[in-house]
Amino acid sequence: MAPAPPPRPPIDGPLDRAAIEAWLGETDQRRLDELWAAANETRRLRVGDEVHLRGLIELSNYCVRACGYCGLRAGNREIERYRMSRDEILDCARTAREFGYGTVVLQSGEDYGIKTDWLAAIVRAIKTETGLAVTLSLGERPDDDLAVWREAGADRYLLRFETSDDELYRLIHPDLLGRRSDRFAILRALRELGYEVGSGIMVGIPGQTRASVAADIDAFRDLDLDMIGIGPYISHPATPLGDHSWQRPIPAEEQIGNDELTVYKAVALTRLACPQANIPSTTALATINQVDGRELGLMRGANVVMPNLTPPEYRAKYEIYPDKACVGETAEMCRGCLQGRIEAIGREIGSGAGGRRHG
Ligand code: 5AD
Ligand code: FES
Repeated sequence: MAPAPPPRPPIDGPLDRAAIEAWLGETDQRRLDELWAAANETRRLRVGDEVHLRGLIELSNYCVRACGYCGLRAGNREIERYRMSRDEILDCARTAREFGYGTVVLQSGEDYGIKTDWLAAIVRAIKTETGLAVTLSLGERPDDDLAVWREAGADRYLLRFETSDDELYRLIHPDLLGRRSDRFAILRALRELGYEVGSGIMVGIPGQTRASVAADIDAFRDLDLDMIGIGPYISHPATPLGDHSWQRPIPAEEQIGNDELTVYKAVALTRLACPQANIPSTTALATINQVDGRELGLMRGANVVMPNLTPPEYRAKYEIYPDKACVGETAEMCRGCLQGRIEAIGREIGSGAGGRRHG
């Protein structure tokens, strides 16, 4: 006999791990509509109707890591590597300012060609010249680097833990030089340094179960994260996960999907578990539903979007996963596109830095 389905939690009941897991498996349309409505209402009450814009600068696609899922992995010889110059980065930051974005996000692979002091000087220049909030997303750098950048004025740091399932994480994210990768320790260090701390996951990694995504959402709550990014896992053929040379064996019925509906469930549940967090409607979600993925994310719990500022000649090279949204676009086009989408769903563009709310 098939096992009994898990009990169906009420939408206003306690959202413990078992309830989150049951919601992740929900298929009843009426109940899902209740979930979307509850997440949207919580979003409205706790972080308001403003959608904050974070201008994304993908400053380097060099990476020392060998992640099984990511197209920037060191072993991928099919992409041409680039690192933007200081002037190019500052130009993007000026554009962000001109476009009225409150934040720039400097993102890259884990690239030690990005020298600690070089980046610190850029952070200082951006802060002095534009006054924008600066978010860094540069991988698992040593605590000393993180301290120097914080000192230089960086406000926030993003480091997704990808999955809280330790065994799965270690399989898809090999250690570097025999040193054990501990993203939770880095997240704690970032908090101690006074950063606003962001993390997040991919949903639908091969070998990832519904129970483990429920544990991820529970972990978001325990970590009291300021920002939480959730996107679908998208298969990249130039990676071990994508070319199926690697697969963790789990029972097929436990595998969580990487479809958009599953991502909306995870976003909505995260909003309910972490009502005041800043939650982006991610580019990966916009990639698997180019029609209205971003809007649906914003209507089901999210309150942030990340317009791309990367110069067009570099965009295609920052190929974390294939067919990434906005690759053929310019900064200007992304700005207009997102403004239109935000207004079309009756929301407004956020003003100011859009930091984490408290209380
Ligand atoms: N599909 C979806 N997201 C991915 N990322 C990396 N590779 C993929 C992929 N194949 C996400 C990771 C990383 C972020 C920058 O991009 O979550 O933290
Ligand atoms: Fe870049 Fe829509 S956000 S084109």
